[in-house]
Amino acid sequence: MLAYTYIKQGEFKLTEKPEPEITDPKDAIVRVTLSSICTSDLHIKHGSVPRAVPGITVGHEMVGVVEAVGAEVRKVKPGDRVAVNVETYCGECFFCKHGYVNNCTDKNGGWALGCRIDGGQAKYVRVPYADTGLNIIDASVSDRQALFTGDILATGYWAAKIGDIKREDTVLIIGAGPTGICTLLCVMLKEPANIIVSETDPLRCEFVRKHYPDVSVVNPRETEVEEFVRSHSEHGGADVVMEVAGAEGSFESAWRCARPNATVVVVALYDKPQVLPLPDMYGKNLTFKTGGVDGCDCDEILDLIKEGKIDTTPLITHTFPLSEIEKAYEIFENKEDGVIKVAIEP
Ligand SMILES: NC(=O)c1ccc[n+]([C@@H]2O[C@H](COP(=O)([O-])OP(=O)(O)OC[C@H]3O[C@@H](n4cnc5c(N)ncnc54)[C@H](O)[C@@H]3O)[C@@H](O)[C@H]2O)c1
Ligand SMILES: [Zn+2]
Ligand SMILES: [Zn+2]
Repeated sequence: MLAYTYIKQGEFKLTEKPEPEITDPKDAIVRVTLSSICTSDLHIKHGSVPRAVPGITVGHEMVGVVEAVGAEVRKVKPGDRVAVNVETYCGECFFCKHGYVNNCTDKNGGWALGCRIDGGQAKYVRVPYADTGLNIIDASVSDRQALFTGDILATGYWAAKIGDIKREDTVLIIGAGPTGICTLLCVMLKEPANIIVSETDPLRCEFVRKHYPDVSVVNPRETEVEEFVRSHSEHGGADVVMEVAGAEGSFESAWRCARPNATVVVVALYDKPQVLPLPDMYGKNLTFKTGGVDGCDCDEILDLIKEGKIDTTPLITHTFPLSEIEKAYEIFENKEDGVIKVAIEP
């Protein structure tokens, strides 16, 4: 089968590989019907994911149909349509039992698919711990609707959950890339009084204005964000800040825009260490929450999609066949042609 493979730093390539087989009784084999490209795939390509193993098939955001299951798989059976979870987790260790599935102590625990083991930019993928790694998609929900469930939507859902958002809050979201918009959708479900999105790309500002007219949008290249947030909130800054940009200066913007005693959720991953200038923050009494997504709410997310409460289909701006995935990466990586997300059809 064709598989998009991490060859070495700076190089991904379409290669021929044998179809995967069940190697553990908890495995399932999924025939991928739609996959996507994530910013984290680019981080692998650029060498900023040291744990990524050369030779693996990349891709960790996909939906498909179960082809085969191991003897101990209970939740899914062949023929089920499923969303694949970015994280592999045993469900039984200390961390899994507390919902911190990103820290599962299994050797493949956490983000393994498309990083340390073969992922889904291919025709088939082997999913370990299929009972926790797969979520059944209702017949009324399309592949395009469910595509982001296991990764960027799970991330947005997790971020909104740990943000402890209250009805009276002003929530600031920094960055309206695909993950920022998924975070926005999940924040909207908490119905805070006020949502502000800060984004430097005019096209993405326009996208947010068009699709989510109740949200205030500010472009830091045109407006002083800290001042804007202060004058658009009740208590001198945002009650909750979601930093989903991961760019130069965006971490500083996050804590500066927060009111005293606010919560700052750091969703973004950075290429470089960030500075926590405690003397400058003295008296702000901030709570920072950081981490990799704990993607264990995918069934709830799929229910919300089914009920029409989350719709990420406008994010899919481009679709390519797997045979043209190089072109898809080029557009996604260079943010050409107004791209937000790319869907790949195997
Ligand atoms: N914690 C997790 O588990 C997890 C999961 C998924 C993604 N992420 C991270 O989330 C981040 C966002 O991912 P994405 O796929 O949306 O990436 P992206 O690069 O498409 O989005 C970032 C957005 O931020 C904007 N931006 C840049 N500088 C800004 C600034 N100073 N102020 C406001 N906006 C600014 C960019 O224009 C862009 O639209 C990345 O760092 C990614 O690695 C983390
Ligand atoms: Zn991802
Ligand atoms: Zn575990």
